[in-house]
Amino acid sequence: MSQPDRTFPAEFLWGASTAAHQIEGNNVNSDWWEREYAAGTDLAEPSGDAADSFHRYPEDIALLADLGFNAYRFSIEWARIEPEDGYTSRASLQHYRRMIDTCHESGLTPIVTLYHFTNPRWFARGGGWRRADAVDRFARYTELVLPLLDDVEWVCTINEPNMVAMTRGEEGTEMAAAALPSPDAHLTQQLIAAHRRSRDILSQTPGVKSGWSVAGQAFHAAPGCDEEMRAYRYPREDIFLEAAAGDDYIGVQAYLRTFIGKDGPLPVPAGAETTLTGWEYFPPALEIAARHAWDLTGHAPILVTENGLATSDDSRRIDYTHDALAGLASAMDDGIDVRGYLHWSALDNYEWGSYDPTFGLIGWDKTTFERTPKPSAHWLGSVARTGVLHH
Ligand code: GCO
Repeated sequence: MSQPDRTFPAEFLWGASTAAHQIEGNNVNSDWWEREYAAGTDLAEPSGDAADSFHRYPEDIALLADLGFNAYRFSIEWARIEPEDGYTSRASLQHYRRMIDTCHESGLTPIVTLYHFTNPRWFARGGGWRRADAVDRFARYTELVLPLLDDVEWVCTINEPNMVAMTRGEEGTEMAAAALPSPDAHLTQQLIAAHRRSRDILSQTPGVKSGWSVAGQAFHAAPGCDEEMRAYRYPREDIFLEAAAGDDYIGVQAYLRTFIGKDGPLPVPAGAETTLTGWEYFPPALEIAARHAWDLTGHAPILVTENGLATSDDSRRIDYTHDALAGLASAMDDGIDVRGYLHWSALDNYEWGSYDPTFGLIGWDKTTFERTPKPSAHWLGSVARTGVLHH
């Protein structure tokens, strides 16, 4: 039995996502850089030059446009805008303004994240999100970047605040199926307050749609464990989605599934296919996370700001993305308002401690930085260009 092709709306945003620290290189004033070089660091390798996108962004943007995409999600690095408390780098502000201009010139809609996991060292030194002035400092940073955003439609204040609250903004960000640490309730409230202040400031620029991107996934209750599943999920995900009710949109990010039993998360079922991060290969995660976000936000429009997998078998990237998009199309058939799909990630990148998990549509040479789009990049680019997902 053949299934029909799926056609997405003409104005649908199609693109890929990145984060500054994971691709720019030499983000020396951030707390992650500090941690990478700390004696006895727990990280396998430092980020170093990364993909040198700080200098090569014109090439990256041109590649995405040539492939057929119409959107690019990237982040502004706070540690570059305010390398020291009280010192603002105008050169860095201009750098990110040029990135926005380059997107517009290439026909890509920029989707700009203000905070993607990394802190300026000075902010981290004072306790990071635990600082009494954390919300004020983030508000000040939002004010500094506001003038850059006058023709930017989509702004994400904080990427995965739930992961930040779980890792306390200090430790690894790995979303291991086996154990998501218990979130810090104070940090959760700080992040929600920072998000709201930041949105208030952003609303001074008419035309900006602001929201945040929450790490979602498919939580499945083991038999008889519905209550345990809900209790586990609430502080790790739901509270952040509920806080987005009334926002201009909700950023949905989903990769995997986790089973919750009586005592919490269960290991990936024996025999299940896993990816290079050890996560279960589970494309329906996106549809499940989108439906859940729609319900919990009281029907905020959805932008899929991340979805993908780490694999060295690029044909599985195509399979996974195909099936994830088919699920998303089913959700849209049911009236869920989805505005776009941004794949994680545009480039292979620094996965918070290691370059081994390759999430990119585009690979690059470690020595020359030469970019090579993978077959998945061409495949997804053609879906983007035509708006049609073939069965
Ligand atoms: C996150 C971040 C990305 C990750 C990606 C794969 O979701 O944790 O936004 O920085 O690299 O999710 O783990």
